[in-house]
Amino acid sequence: MEPGVDIKEAAARLKSAASVCVLTGAGISAESGVPTFRGEDGLWKSYRAEELATPEAFERDPVLVWQWYNWRRELLRPLEPNAAHRALSELEGCCKDFSLVTQNVDGLHELAGSRHIFELHGNIWRTRCTGCATVSTRREDLSDEAGGLPRCECGALLRPDIVWFGESLEPRVITGAVEAAKRADFFFVVGTSSVVQPAASLSVMAKEAGAYVVEINPEATAVTGLVDLAIKSKATLALPQFL
Ligand code: OAD
Repeated sequence: MEPGVDIKEAAARLKSAASVCVLTGAGISAESGVPTFRGEDGLWKSYRAEELATPEAFERDPVLVWQWYNWRRELLRPLEPNAAHRALSELEGCCKDFSLVTQNVDGLHELAGSRHIFELHGNIWRTRCTGCATVSTRREDLSDEAGGLPRCECGALLRPDIVWFGESLEPRVITGAVEAAKRADFFFVVGTSSVVQPAASLSVMAKEAGAYVVEINPEATAVTGLVDLAIKSKATLALPQFL
């Protein structure tokens, strides 16, 4: 952890908080081996988002889009939650009102034992039917299914249950996340560059509604200037200190 950062006040505020909300991004999973989106080896450096993560891309070339998601699923499969995911799961057990809002689709928070999760951008282990909209958890390797184009029992094409660029977030999920951010009197923002909306504005909403906001990120971000405490550290080092 960054030398000289005094987390005493933040830890005391966390302890006395009636409602805690945490927003996480790709950085919390980095130490599990998941690539971030915008860093040196970020996923969007090698791929153009609009060629793969848009409804138009899926319409144009569903096999290519499925290949990309199957490749990411196989990269993620052996990875495990790290000390930061586990710390948040433990923290949930100590709080009466705890909400975890994540932009990550890797499912590692759930694997670590977190339960009250709003997955803003969906989950890579789930499929959604483009016909009947049925959502299912499908953890098995789907790459060989039906020539690379998995289908629902109703016959329609399945797609990853991910929110793509140009699509709206699931109303129930974003509403729950906004309510949790506004209700919180302690808010953590961990491992996100805070550039993708509406996730990025949750920290601002929490702050404006009176929460004490703590950022954990080795780099400065779009919200660093507004938080009460910015801890320039890796999530696995900083979060366990709060337990
Ligand atoms: P980014 O890749 O934009 O940002 C990752 C952040 O994590 C950066 O600010 C890093 O400094 C920080 N970071 C890296 N290692 C860390 C560590 N060990 N501990 C703490 N922080 C660390 O990822 P997101 O902000 O999550 O959306 O990106 C948001 C969305 O953009 C994603 O959900 C994805 C993408 O387009 C969709 O796919 C819809």
